[in-house]
Amino acid sequence: MQRTKVADLLRSNEIGKTFTVKGWVRTRRGNKQVNFVALNDGSGINNLQIVVDMEQFDEALVRRITTGAAISVDGELQKSQGSGQNVELLAKTIEILGDSDPDKYPLQPKKHSLEFLREIAHLRFRTNTFGAIARVRHSMIFAVHEFFNKKGFYNIHTPIITASDAEGAGEMFQVTTLDLDKLPRTEDGKIDYSKDFFGKPTNLTVSGQLEGELAALAMSEIYTFGPTFRAENSNTSRHLSEFWMIEPEMAFYELKDNMDLAEEFLRYLIQYALENCKDDLEFLSQRQQQEEKGKKEADRAMELIEKLKFVLEDDFARVTYTEAIQILENSKPNKKNQFNYPVKGFGTDLQSEHERYLVEKHFKKPVILTDYPKEIKAFYMKLNDDNNTVRAMDVLFPQIGEIIGGSQREESYEKLTSRMAEMNIPEEEMWWFLDTRRYGSVPHSGFGLGFERLMLFVTGMTNIRDVIPFPRAPKSAEF
Ligand code: 4AD
Ligand code: MG
Repeated sequence: MQRTKVADLLRSNEIGKTFTVKGWVRTRRGNKQVNFVALNDGSGINNLQIVVDMEQFDEALVRRITTGAAISVDGELQKSQGSGQNVELLAKTIEILGDSDPDKYPLQPKKHSLEFLREIAHLRFRTNTFGAIARVRHSMIFAVHEFFNKKGFYNIHTPIITASDAEGAGEMFQVTTLDLDKLPRTEDGKIDYSKDFFGKPTNLTVSGQLEGELAALAMSEIYTFGPTFRAENSNTSRHLSEFWMIEPEMAFYELKDNMDLAEEFLRYLIQYALENCKDDLEFLSQRQQQEEKGKKEADRAMELIEKLKFVLEDDFARVTYTEAIQILENSKPNKKNQFNYPVKGFGTDLQSEHERYLVEKHFKKPVILTDYPKEIKAFYMKLNDDNNTVRAMDVLFPQIGEIIGGSQREESYEKLTSRMAEMNIPEEEMWWFLDTRRYGSVPHSGFGLGFERLMLFVTGMTNIRDVIPFPRAPKSAEF
């Protein structure tokens, strides 16, 4: 018989009909007359209740229906007698597909800490929390493609192995097939990369932007959605060594158009989650509220769904970096020395504590900061007429800080090459990028959304390692 998904069955009203379900046992409870099995197959947050009439089944078989075991059940759909569900399945036949030793299975039917679940990430999909996160993550991936497809953007695959450092921050993982114990050397003692696989040093990409620009300057509007690797040694709840980034790049867009698109994009994704991930968001909201109980009222996060709706209510605030610095310098926490990094005028690189102050305390809504000092931003950003600031834009979100980073790009060959010289970026390695400025250069802009930062916001989780199935972070690459 064809298998029916649990989520479909829970919505069904075909009472009296026989169905087959397959899945993993969450719990079994009961007495000598009747047992109740909670079955989940990942199709939704809610379990199907299987009713087992003990007179009809061998006790030895029922004993094998333990937490974590996989079973297949044929049964008749019934209106549920108990509370908590509308329908349940009265078992006719039960087959054990895979036993699970209850004494050894690490997931017990009780609450486990997120730290513990990170250690058993290979099994954490089987919990309510990580099932919900996986489904929301899928929906957000789908919504990203839907948004850009509707707007006529083309998805471009940019390389994962590259020879360039797009952000110029030097935070790259090297890719090599050289034997590290026997490195070939040139006559002057340097490593001879002509002997390496690609004949030159290569690394994992830190951004698809540069190649994205090449495509945009022909296709007009493109986006990338790819894995991104950064060897920054920041062991924080907002950084991963391997994360996913969405980078749209648009010809003929100036900074304001870029901001408008970023805002529309984020709103679209949040609205999509509200409309399509209701059950999972409700579960995640309850989970979050449980977690918040222990905190002081003033420190508690806003209820998840309320928070998502709240962001949609108002336009994002748009302020320049210079204005933001003034606000921060005059702020209470700065005057009372409560920031870990004091704000010391123009040129200060903003930390997440500053970003969150602006969003959560000052503006009380998402903020787009623009026109940063050129010294703290990447080489490709368009220089303003003041020769001092660049047309950068960072979108700052409550709880997260920076969720998007982007800019208008420097389209002038002369200005770009002089900026590169100032920042010691060798022109000869970037000849292909500079060709776009040599031939048919136009104003263009783009940005990068950190997909896991979005996931943090949408799920209300607080550690980025919990919104990607297999997190990679300094000293941690298990599974
Ligand atoms: O601000 P970033 O470094 O910008 C770029 O890479 C540009 N090339 C984007 C562009 O204009 N096309 O990174 C963009 C976003 C950040 O705002 C943040 O959300 C996320 O990527 N991000 C990270 N997410 C998780 N872990 C990390 N280590 C991250 N670093 C950046
Ligand atoms: Mg940034």
